[in-house]
Amino acid sequence: MKTGVAILATALAVSVQAKDPDVLSYGSPESAGMLSKPLRDMVANLTAFTRRGDYGGFNEDNKPIEPGGTTLVARNGIVVSRFGFGKRDLYGAFNATTNVATELPPEEQEDASIDTIYDMASLTKLFTSVAALQQIDKGTISLYSTVASYVPAFAVNGKDNVTIEQLVTHTSGFPPDPSPPLYNLTVYPTYESRIEAILNAPLENAPGAAFVYSDLNFMSLMIVIETVAGKPLDQLIYDFTVPMGMLSTFFNRGNVEGPAFPFYPRMATEEFQIAVLGPGEPQRPQPVRGTVHDENAWALDGVSGHAGLFSTVDDTAKFCQMILNNGTYNGRRILSQDAVDMIFHNYNTKFPSDSHGVGFELDQYYTAGPMANPRAASHTGFTGTTLVVDRASNTLFLHFSNRVHPSRDWSSNNIVREAVGYWVAKALGRDVAFPSY
Ligand SMILES: *[C@@H]1O[C@H](CO)[C@@H](O)[C@H](O)[C@H]1NC(C)=O
Ligand SMILES: *[C@@H]1O[C@H](CO)[C@@H](O)[C@H](O)[C@H]1NC(C)=O
Ligand SMILES: *[C@@H]1O[C@H](CO)[C@@H](O)[C@H](O)[C@H]1NC(C)=O
Ligand SMILES: *[C@@H]1O[C@H](CO)[C@@H](O)[C@H](O)[C@H]1NC(C)=O
Repeated sequence: MKTGVAILATALAVSVQAKDPDVLSYGSPESAGMLSKPLRDMVANLTAFTRRGDYGGFNEDNKPIEPGGTTLVARNGIVVSRFGFGKRDLYGAFNATTNVATELPPEEQEDASIDTIYDMASLTKLFTSVAALQQIDKGTISLYSTVASYVPAFAVNGKDNVTIEQLVTHTSGFPPDPSPPLYNLTVYPTYESRIEAILNAPLENAPGAAFVYSDLNFMSLMIVIETVAGKPLDQLIYDFTVPMGMLSTFFNRGNVEGPAFPFYPRMATEEFQIAVLGPGEPQRPQPVRGTVHDENAWALDGVSGHAGLFSTVDDTAKFCQMILNNGTYNGRRILSQDAVDMIFHNYNTKFPSDSHGVGFELDQYYTAGPMANPRAASHTGFTGTTLVVDRASNTLFLHFSNRVHPSRDWSSNNIVREAVGYWVAKALGRDVAFPSY
């Protein structure tokens, strides 16, 4: 039985932890040295992009840019703006011949809200990267060692010398996607055969010779860290997200369909995938909702290093703040300062427009708009998600969307991503131009 002193000590430890300044809190823009008006104006402006209109090269036929989204901005550890807008579930049917989607009756439509859970798509790569950085901190892997030194079966088809650094900066030489795709279940009937396909995948460039964004890099990274840590990737990620209080961040391992999956009601609806792309797509209820949109991640049981994670902006803001805090959150150390510095270090000086830290892109206008700079680490996800962590201004901003609902072909939401960066820059008092469209 605990003594009174032990209970008091526990209570004190808890209260000290709760007051830790490295935890996100809520406050006015002014309390974070920002202006309120641009952040207020941002809400109506982002909402306007959910309506039909001519958005230049970002859409065709006046299609909306996205049905809705959820956005969060924080500076100096203070959340200064967070809101949902538009719809997380809007269309009930899609006709591929006419490219026309039919809206659900109004009472069946669902608003995008602050707690809407989005398919993170390639933002998953950032969480896989943090899991890999933890292994670097532990000394179980090194950035400069070859993949084959941890997974000998990788040393085929010219991949003997591919390094971990090349995986996390997309310079390994891999083509963009596995071919044939892993979701061709005739070619790859089992999970094991799909992992083997990743290990056997050939290169299209010599290692280090070119920057080519490839999901194969992060599928391979998953295999490396699962091998050295002896745990599945989802468990390795939960090992740091759960202690940070990220309880709406998860993979749907096993691709559980429909309301049988506990988070289903809060999850954004995605694409009428089979109608848009044809019968070769994964056979599952349409539109895709609740299971991972990315077909190769679906084929890997819903868990891969390149896609598969779902999250909310509130949860992911904690992940970003941990990075701005140089590795800690709520008094817990997740990464060393050296590991965080590797996120912001540009390993791709050979490829000037493709600056890249470990897992994160650097200095990208299409993700961050006018906030882009060499100390802004960012990434996007195919479904419409965006994450920016800017060391230069101690700011993080997130824009999550289900822009592939009803079809991936309707629009690019880069204009909304850039717009968020514009409004954040305006709120910092900067004189910048609205991104052109
Ligand atoms: C968003 O705001 C900018 C800057 O005021 C404006 O130029 C643009 O037309 C707005 N976008 C929409 C879709 O209303
Ligand atoms: C799609 O639209 C075409 C052209 O109007 C029509 O012939 C077809 O029946 C529609 N398909 C479905 C599934 O409603
Ligand atoms: C790996 O590097 C070694 C040493 O530079 C070289 O001899 C070998 O040919 C390389 N292997 C491949 C598959 O490129
Ligand atoms: C994190 O590290 C960077 C680079 O050394 C430094 O500029 C920044 O002030 C640090 N932030 C905190 C919260 O310690």
